[in-house]
Amino acid sequence: MSLLSRLQEVNKEETMKTTKEVIINRSSDQQSPMSRESEKKVIPSKKTETKKQVRKSETDKHRQLKAQLHKQILQEMKELDDIDSIIPKIDEMAIEIIKEEESFRGTDRKKIVEELINDLTGFGPINPLLLDEEVSEVMVNGPTQVYCERNGKLVLTDVKFRDSDHVMHVIEKIVAPLGRRIDESSPMVDARLPDGSRVNAIIPPLALNGPTITIRKFSEDPFVIDDLIQFGTLTKEMAIFLDACVKARLNMFVSGGTGSGKTTTLNVLSNFIPSDERIVTIEDAAELQLGQDHVVSLESRPPNIEGKGAITIRDLVRNSLRMRPDRVVIGEVRGAEALDMLQAMNTGHDGSLATGHSNSPRDMISRLETMVLMAGVDLPIKAIREQIAGAIDVIIQQSRLKDGTRKITKITEVQGLEGDIIVLQDIFSFEQKGLDENGKVIGSLVPTGVRPKFYERLENSGITIEADVFVAKEEW
Ligand SMILES: Nc1ncnc2c1ncn2[C@@H]1O[C@H](COP(=O)(O)OP(=O)(O)O)[C@@H](O)[C@H]1O
Ligand SMILES: [Mg+2]
Repeated sequence: MSLLSRLQEVNKEETMKTTKEVIINRSSDQQSPMSRESEKKVIPSKKTETKKQVRKSETDKHRQLKAQLHKQILQEMKELDDIDSIIPKIDEMAIEIIKEEESFRGTDRKKIVEELINDLTGFGPINPLLLDEEVSEVMVNGPTQVYCERNGKLVLTDVKFRDSDHVMHVIEKIVAPLGRRIDESSPMVDARLPDGSRVNAIIPPLALNGPTITIRKFSEDPFVIDDLIQFGTLTKEMAIFLDACVKARLNMFVSGGTGSGKTTTLNVLSNFIPSDERIVTIEDAAELQLGQDHVVSLESRPPNIEGKGAITIRDLVRNSLRMRPDRVVIGEVRGAEALDMLQAMNTGHDGSLATGHSNSPRDMISRLETMVLMAGVDLPIKAIREQIAGAIDVIIQQSRLKDGTRKITKITEVQGLEGDIIVLQDIFSFEQKGLDENGKVIGSLVPTGVRPKFYERLENSGITIEADVFVAKEEW
């Protein structure tokens, strides 16, 4: 969208906002359920009328000045479509308008200019959060409640939108450049910001709080293994072990809940892959950032508005096998693609890495069984277990603990099938001892003392790990 049309759009909206409170009788077929909602809320109750009226006239002034400023920008910059040269002039224009129009004195000019710039260049009121490096996620639960995750903790911010339409405007701004739309017929949408951040939006009537946005910010500077060690996500010994497992081409699966840090760990593991190998990554929304040069990134595609043209993770897994990969890295396995992945792992595509949603290594196994069944092939359960036991070597369990920290709580070897049962053996495990007075989790990551059965495989690939990596420190 050109700057000019963007300005026109915002201007139109601003003008509407100033008049909306007066015109409550717009014909109903023009109104979305949300704008009706917001209008209802504006009708003041008798008791607080005077106070509210004062506040209202303040906000009216605020809006009027903003609208007028928009208009002026439009007039003066009709030909210009270069946002960078317009922005420095906005404040001057505001000063001019206030000089001319007595009644605008006392309005918060700086705030208006800032809001305007945010609306023009970014995503409105949440822009400061998106620019804040300490913030990793932004959650808009309707116009008046915005949470963010700051340094691993969920906090309520004082960010507010004017009303539901304002939130809708931001959602449209996010999805429109991608050729997607959000409305009653497609009320949920996944999208990505130009910087790579992942966005989900869901609107009424499905979302009862009002239009809801969840943004997981893309970190330009992804975590590396030393960061995770420093955070206490894993120990140095575990890191040495995982590095060896990747180099020895074991098939590894990162399991954990949403936001537990699976993708981050997968990224760190993928970066252990030697740089002379050809890597194919498969994701729903590309998040992985590999340091190697020889990486082919594939991304699945949702169906279009007519419900056609979807390309699933499964389609991509199948295709990737025809691309001569040395390694296949799958962002998240959640359905029928599990079967294709296991088959690939069992037929020479070893060294594959993937993640899945589950609360324990044992649970991950049974979820994989269910996923294979989703592929619609009629395999007996024993055959499925054989596939799983034969394919996967290591499960890394990741958790987000109560205090907000992310930990690898288990590194578990999949040893094989005994009878009908898949045998799992923990190699490392997190032992929680309790909480300190600040609610921080106390505990330690310890080796269980068991050397993995695939130790020989590590040695055969020329990788030596000091035996003390597997020994619990207390026993030294
Ligand atoms: N080990 C970690 N320590 C601290 N924060 C982490 C860690 N791993 C991930 N994060 C942060 O947690 C959020 C979710 O991480 P992500 O890897 O996307 O989780 P998942 O893939 O399990 O949903 C991100 O904002 C990320 O920066
Ligand atoms: Mg993830």
